[in-house]
Amino acid sequence: MSAIETIARLEHWLRPVLHTLPPHLAVRLFSDGRTAFAKAFADDVPQHAGFHAPSHMAVRAWGLEFSMPIWNAAGMFKNGEGYEVVARQGAGAYVAGTTTSVPRVGNVKDGIRWPAAAYPRSGVASNWMGLPNEGHAAVAARLSALTRVAGCPVGASVSADPGMDQNLALPALAKGMRLYDRVGVDYIELNESCPNVPGHDAQHDVLDAGLLQRLDYVAHHVLATRTRNLPVVVKFSTDTNPAYVDDLVRVLIERGFDGIILGNTSTQYVAVRPLIDKREQAVYDHFTRSFGGGLSGRPLRDVSLELCARARRAADACAPTREFHVIRCGGVSTAADIEASRREGILLNQWYVGYFDAFGVDGHNVYRRLAAQLVAMRT
Ligand SMILES: Cc1cc2nc3c(=O)[nH]c(=O)nc-3n(C[C@H](O)[C@H](O)[C@H](O)COP(=O)(O)O)c2cc1C
Repeated sequence: MSAIETIARLEHWLRPVLHTLPPHLAVRLFSDGRTAFAKAFADDVPQHAGFHAPSHMAVRAWGLEFSMPIWNAAGMFKNGEGYEVVARQGAGAYVAGTTTSVPRVGNVKDGIRWPAAAYPRSGVASNWMGLPNEGHAAVAARLSALTRVAGCPVGASVSADPGMDQNLALPALAKGMRLYDRVGVDYIELNESCPNVPGHDAQHDVLDAGLLQRLDYVAHHVLATRTRNLPVVVKFSTDTNPAYVDDLVRVLIERGFDGIILGNTSTQYVAVRPLIDKREQAVYDHFTRSFGGGLSGRPLRDVSLELCARARRAADACAPTREFHVIRCGGVSTAADIEASRREGILLNQWYVGYFDAFGVDGHNVYRRLAAQLVAMRT
């Protein structure tokens, strides 16, 4: 067992103890601990030869092969680090970012850099990191040097620079996407749904002029000029109004996008609060009042399934002439969740909170264990 696996296992048992501390101190320790752990984790390449799931588990989509129907969600490897770690573990794919054209330092408040907190008894996490990243160019350069593993395609998550005038932000976004195209990434996620920066709207009213302008711009300046197979999908919030999903999917298909991810974190602090274990509510209240941030984990599980099922039906109704895939993200943590997705025609999933919970138990065997559970469920 590596030092990181040991730390993750210890941390798995120790995290609940942090909730006995004064809330501000607990958030500081969670935030600093998360940053230190994330850095070391991305370098902790498994010593084993590498796990590859049985071939019948692979998903073929857009002409790419995903060795498993699930991979780590955006934001875990913000600067293009960690590919070898998850590829060796057996992840179905990898995604770097979210990156922006101008590097961002991310959020600092009340002396805490990149505020984050975990509520382990509740299966929930908060973050108000604010998209810290080294920028498209630095991350694209890092991805260009990767040694690829079969069955683990490489994605890049991008966003228009929050707060930048659209006249500048849109050309910079398109330039960044073309840069990722040139270095050979296999797919791109356009992140429209970070609640921790200005300009990302959680409700995603499809009539929102800013959103339509960005989608149109990317359609004309990136999608229409592609010279190779490069799927581009758009990631929306799990707070997206279900009534808007049909229109969102239609708008994406009409413009030539290749899929939708539902979705990103939630800001439904009041609705989620009753789901937070009583012993974790003091830190939860402090975090949501002081920072706000996005909520991840268990409360998103049913919402993400409902939104994705709706998106799948909407896409089928549009009868697109090209493949359009729905990627489920939010509260996915077990083989049963992946099977629930599959029953709705959703072949691809991503996980963040559930992944780290599982890593705390299974370490680098996290995908091996999940694959065994999937095999058991399917036989
Ligand atoms: C600490 C943290 C940082 C994140 N950063 C990003 C990001 O940079 N880009 C993005 O699209 N999503 C980001 N997310 C959202 C996740 O990709 C995912 O959509 C969300 O956590 C819901 O999935 P989960 O319930 O499996 O955690 C972040 C989430 C967390 C917890």
